[in-house]
Amino acid sequence: MNLLAMFGAVSPGLVARGAWHHVRTALRAASNAPGAPRGFDWLDEAWRQLRAETPASPSLTPLRGVAFARAVSPTDAELGLDGRTVRVTALADDVVLFEAGPPHAYAASTDGFPGAGLALEDGLAALTLRTKAVTLTVAKDTGALRVEAGGAVVADDVEFLSAASGVGFRARVGDGATFHGLGERAAAFDLSGGRYTLWNTDPALYRRGDDPLYLSIPFLVAQAGGRATGFFFDNPHRAQVDVGASERGRLEWLVHGGALRLFVVTGTPAEVLERYTALTGRARLPPLWALGFHQSRHSYFPQACVLEVAKAFRRRRIPCDVLHLDIHHMDGYRSFTWHPRDFAEPRALTAELHALGFKALAIVDPGIKVEPGYRVYDEGVARGAFLRWPDGAPFVGPVWPGDCHFPDFSSPEVRAWWGGQYRGLLDDGVDAFWNDMNEVALITVPVGAQLPGALRHDAEGKGASHDELHNLYGQLMAKASVDGLEALRPQARGVVLTRSGWAGVQRHAMHWTGDNHSTWDDLRLSLQMVLNLGLSGVAFTGPDTGGFSGGPSPELFARWMQLSSFFPFFRVHSVLGSPDQEPWAFGDEVEAIARAAIEQRYRLLPYLYTAAWQTTRTGAPVVRPMSFGFPGDARFAGVDDQFLVGDALLVAPVLERGATSRRVLLPEGPWFELATGARHDGGGRVEVPAPLEVVPVFVRGGAVVPRWNVQQYVGEGVHELELLVAPAPGEHESLLYEDDGMTRGGPFRVTRFTVRGRELERSTLEGTYQPPSVPVRVLAVDALPLRHELDAGA
Ligand code: GLC
Repeated sequence: MNLLAMFGAVSPGLVARGAWHHVRTALRAASNAPGAPRGFDWLDEAWRQLRAETPASPSLTPLRGVAFARAVSPTDAELGLDGRTVRVTALADDVVLFEAGPPHAYAASTDGFPGAGLALEDGLAALTLRTKAVTLTVAKDTGALRVEAGGAVVADDVEFLSAASGVGFRARVGDGATFHGLGERAAAFDLSGGRYTLWNTDPALYRRGDDPLYLSIPFLVAQAGGRATGFFFDNPHRAQVDVGASERGRLEWLVHGGALRLFVVTGTPAEVLERYTALTGRARLPPLWALGFHQSRHSYFPQACVLEVAKAFRRRRIPCDVLHLDIHHMDGYRSFTWHPRDFAEPRALTAELHALGFKALAIVDPGIKVEPGYRVYDEGVARGAFLRWPDGAPFVGPVWPGDCHFPDFSSPEVRAWWGGQYRGLLDDGVDAFWNDMNEVALITVPVGAQLPGALRHDAEGKGASHDELHNLYGQLMAKASVDGLEALRPQARGVVLTRSGWAGVQRHAMHWTGDNHSTWDDLRLSLQMVLNLGLSGVAFTGPDTGGFSGGPSPELFARWMQLSSFFPFFRVHSVLGSPDQEPWAFGDEVEAIARAAIEQRYRLLPYLYTAAWQTTRTGAPVVRPMSFGFPGDARFAGVDDQFLVGDALLVAPVLERGATSRRVLLPEGPWFELATGARHDGGGRVEVPAPLEVVPVFVRGGAVVPRWNVQQYVGEGVHELELLVAPAPGEHESLLYEDDGMTRGGPFRVTRFTVRGRELERSTLEGTYQPPSVPVRVLAVDALPLRHELDAGA
């Protein structure tokens, strides 16, 4: 599928406007340039703006030379480096913050960290700063810093970089390390050898190697020898991260402005994620139905077509919870409206969807059409809600509806106003929302124009340029949306899907990985991206299953459904003009395979929901890299073709065309095949059959996997809880989280299962929630007898 097909929603008028946009913006930018150029200078500046290229890396100089240090409190010290002062704070024994200059308006909160003792020793050649877990050694003559933790050097030759044009750091992290995180990267799970830009961008369809994409996270995890070190550079300006590309094992992080604010976190991968999400906030627990299957297309319209799809799911007995309404549900792509002809009776539509057990999820884009008489535009103008140039004129840029203004979500008043806009759609029965194009994406010719850096933001009353806040735009939009939804419906958990985001986006929204292609490489890439997003704190994510652009072969679609059925966000979506991509569009065999994958997911919902809840408590992703679960096992370093889901399942998806078996690397065992109960000792490599209808899944010995009967949608009716027990020598624990699946802050219950050999015990660990009583069936994955004391209905 080419760009023209994708832009089927684009009229010739919009194309012309998209071309003119560059000129118009250059002229405005010249008028707003510092020093107010006039005459030829103005023309010169406009020409310069028109040709404006991606900014080059700032040239930064290391803070080198004689170092001194002084303790300023039991938890803080000041390090004098090259005439500059870097404040060192032990937030915890395993979290150290290096800071110079004032934090930005959205800096991560350190409130949850009471601080830990930081001892300072002034030696002959070096200064040493020590917590119970981390030792920092600063060479007095060069100022170079070494970080040691757990008896190993985790970063050496650390140099802070500074200049008028930016800040940064360099470090040697070691040849053997693998690197993960940085948000959304069209790259392998191990980011080593790459250069990445932190600057949220709509790539207008992407392929492996394209960078940057829609969502950037300034958090990188280096893993070596069973230990992990997290580097969180809390500064939203554009940044470039060289992950061993110039020199193996060497990290260089250059930020185009703002202050040094670098957190270094050490521990196991799980501990590092726990700390990072304590700093940036934990994900909110989605309602259970959001973990069900979502079907989408750009776009299902008119409304009768949406109902047809809904009925087809029920008729064919393919479970599905959510149908997405893409931009055609709107009146001329105006956010918060309905198309007067195609969606003439939205309340009747949502009522029918609800009666069939579906939720409706509608897209809302940030670009507000410039059009007096359009309520959202009029209100926004009256409130001064839109982003402006320094001279006060609102910025204009083309998106689907034509020329648009863009709300300044960094203003609390604008966020509250925006949040209130959802009232109408909620009243019309829409259950959840999708914030797209929020990088911000403009539709220009040539593609790729961004909002100008000179635009002014409120920044919580502190004032900032768009250059500083660009990376936060999408996230602040998602915050405005979800806060608004929860203000309007305080009992319900607000569900927002966002395309763009930055550190902490997990607090506000779920995410999807944007406009991919229907290729085998995109299938593999989708797993690699989900793994890296998980290590960036973004657990609730998933791809456009089957591919957004193009049409998948039946085999590719089947394999993608099998893979995505284990992702926290499980949606099929495809571009305007592409072939049908519903589970039944590929023939009977693939329909049966897709149904089986979705049914397996619905059976596993209590297990997946428990893993989702764990994310909200600890930051551990639902989909976990092998090296996250087994950091001490060097065989798993960088492995990204098999993965863990929660504590108990290992999935080895088929990622290759034509494959009928799959080689799997098992951790120490025992491990049991979920489908057959076959037992493997573990610790080696096995080859298991994987014909098209099979996705190999293994259960960890000692685990208890809770399962329900298949429902066509969440809430249809659970009439059995099955506890699948994987016996193993020794003692093992598993958890089950339960609540009503929808109420915000309602009662819950956490049950602990203990497996000892072939015995199972259960106890309540936390909470008072009483789930509806259903029979409990306990069975061993290997089908041999077990001993347990669980009564039916207990
Ligand atoms: C963007 C989104 C895509 C959506 C389309 C139309 O390309 O990424 O998911 O279908 O816009 O709204």
